[in-house]
Amino acid sequence: MPTKFPPINPKFPHMLHGGDYNPDQWPEEVWQEDMRLMKLANCNTMSVAIFAWAKLEPEEGKYDFSWLDRVMDMLAENGGYAVLATPSGARPAWMSQKYPEVLRVRADRGRNLHGTRHNHCLTSPIYREKTREINTRLAERYKDHPALLVWHISNEYNGECHCDLCQESFRNWLRKKYNDDLDALNQAWWTAFWSHTYTSWSQIESPSPIGETSLHGLNLDWKRYSTDQTIDFFCNEIKPLRELTPDVPVTTNFMGLFPGLNYPRFAQAVDVVSWDSYPVWHTTGSDWKLAAQIGFIHDQNRSMKGGKPFMLMESTPSITNWQPNPKLKRPGMHLLSSLQAVAHGSDTVQYFQWRKSRGSAEKFHGAVVDHVGHENTRVFRDVANVGSALQKLDPVVGTTVSPDVAIILDWENRWAINDMNALGYDRRNYDETVITQYLPFWSRGIPVDVIPEWADFSRYKLLIAPMLYMLLPGVADRIKQFVADGGTFVTTYWSGIVDENDLCFLGGWPGGGLREVLGIWDEETDTITVDERNTVQMVPGNELGLSGSYEARDYFALIHAEGARVLATYGSDFYAGRPALTVNDYGKGRAYYIASRNDEKFADDFYGKLASQLNLLHALPVDLPTGVTAQLREDGEKKFIFVMNFNNSPASVDLGGSAYRSLLSGEAVTGTLELGPYGVEVLTE
Ligand code: GLA
Ligand code: ZN
Repeated sequence: MPTKFPPINPKFPHMLHGGDYNPDQWPEEVWQEDMRLMKLANCNTMSVAIFAWAKLEPEEGKYDFSWLDRVMDMLAENGGYAVLATPSGARPAWMSQKYPEVLRVRADRGRNLHGTRHNHCLTSPIYREKTREINTRLAERYKDHPALLVWHISNEYNGECHCDLCQESFRNWLRKKYNDDLDALNQAWWTAFWSHTYTSWSQIESPSPIGETSLHGLNLDWKRYSTDQTIDFFCNEIKPLRELTPDVPVTTNFMGLFPGLNYPRFAQAVDVVSWDSYPVWHTTGSDWKLAAQIGFIHDQNRSMKGGKPFMLMESTPSITNWQPNPKLKRPGMHLLSSLQAVAHGSDTVQYFQWRKSRGSAEKFHGAVVDHVGHENTRVFRDVANVGSALQKLDPVVGTTVSPDVAIILDWENRWAINDMNALGYDRRNYDETVITQYLPFWSRGIPVDVIPEWADFSRYKLLIAPMLYMLLPGVADRIKQFVADGGTFVTTYWSGIVDENDLCFLGGWPGGGLREVLGIWDEETDTITVDERNTVQMVPGNELGLSGSYEARDYFALIHAEGARVLATYGSDFYAGRPALTVNDYGKGRAYYIASRNDEKFADDFYGKLASQLNLLHALPVDLPTGVTAQLREDGEKKFIFVMNFNNSPASVDLGGSAYRSLLSGEAVTGTLELGPYGVEVLTE
């Protein structure tokens, strides 16, 4: 991993700060005022024209760029920049009316009417041609414009289309994948089940509530195809941009852990990763746990391109109107949650939206400029304050972190887990299970990468793979290698069960060779009722030095130690006394198996022990109070330590005798760092 990356666009080597800007919704008189306010808010970048197709091409083939020319010029004249969008996220009504094939067809095979957004076919040659055409014109027109900084491709791509064009394209994708061998597909999808054998490619249809839902291999391949087809659509969009503006980076805004698209795959096609983050603070009972979840997603976004800084493309300056409980951010939270993104690797803080729209669905969504129209609001002051903090963070631009720990969160594995008929329906909670393993590291200020199964493991000391149900090709071998070379591997119940086609491993779980690494055989799994509990009792004198017992719920693998040492056993039920936690030496490394779903206390104690045994990289070499984290960015020489208090009460962090300087205040910080409620500090050595 490089120690420092170039700025997102070297023409502006600073933190970006701004938001989605819709001058296309407002009369021109307002635009000058927007520029005045932009400077007052310490903003430097606006995301423009995201849904502006109807204004850019009001009639087929009749383009009007004059308004956008003025907006781009005004931005440049005022020292601002544009994250310029391609408009494919929504389209003009004339297009849907004239070319119904651009409209999306649902899984139930009904075609949508024109309306909302993200409602287009992924295959339609007409939609692709229209998109390509307008993107070409945008690139031709603005390629040398001083304001052009980044391309924002479409908006939050999502959803699938089941039209005839997409069916045909899916079949072609399958023929390629299975080398034109229908028997291979029948085998992979286990179609002999319920007489589902295909005898012609033309019989294959995408999954549908009125048709096929029971072939898990089909469901998986359809999801894989939909990701590939979305990436293909994206590649069609960026082709003219690549030709005309080779130096302008392209991105498309992702949506965190949105299950519909395999983001780690998609990330390979963008120059810079960006994502839209909408946590609702102060509503979950624990802001710090929510903060850890968001930190995890930030880490995932940073990890997708090997530690390269990402963009926080959207966040709300105040409320998120579509959330069930759109609570206001309490004083301090806006700066804290904004700098949190930077702490985990973002080089931007951007918002939805700059000016609150007057009508339609987003008129009550938080915005920098409220309906009142002036700068004398709490939210505006909060935003200006974030802007002034970001101005002090130039040295952080391009810096990154090289964690010793990686946690696997894999989209394909999640698809398969959510599709299976096992473990009950109501609490498989793959994401939550993964994040439970992350909390102990967040609380200790230990940086973590969040990676897919196919990432390189060799750079880590500790690899954690919770519920690694599906082993993609080569993964088991790479885990073996990782452990043989001295790595520490941790996995849990319900791992090593199926191959990449969702076909079960025969001959004893965990399959694929993991049984040998873990030194156990997983014979069967008990799913107890939601209200039942069991315990996990540490074996006295165990090598981890843990004692007492922990609560466990939901799932219990009944395993046999086949060479592994037993560190804990179950407390009750017919499997009382059987192994609940094991460790196995393999080559120069070790592999742990956590056989049940244990409480957070277990995760905290267990990973706490591993963290000290393995001497994992820390942001700060001290103990942190509950609800406080420290995150690290480095440039190879200097360290930047973000210390964040997600408690609504003050916190003190003992700095242990080291001397630091605050990047925010410029002052020396030694002894104890006092953080106010929702306080944040950025330290350098
Ligand atoms: C999404 C979209 C934006 C806007 C926001 C509102 O992230 O990308 O256009 O609708 O939600 O929160
Ligand atoms: Zn389609």
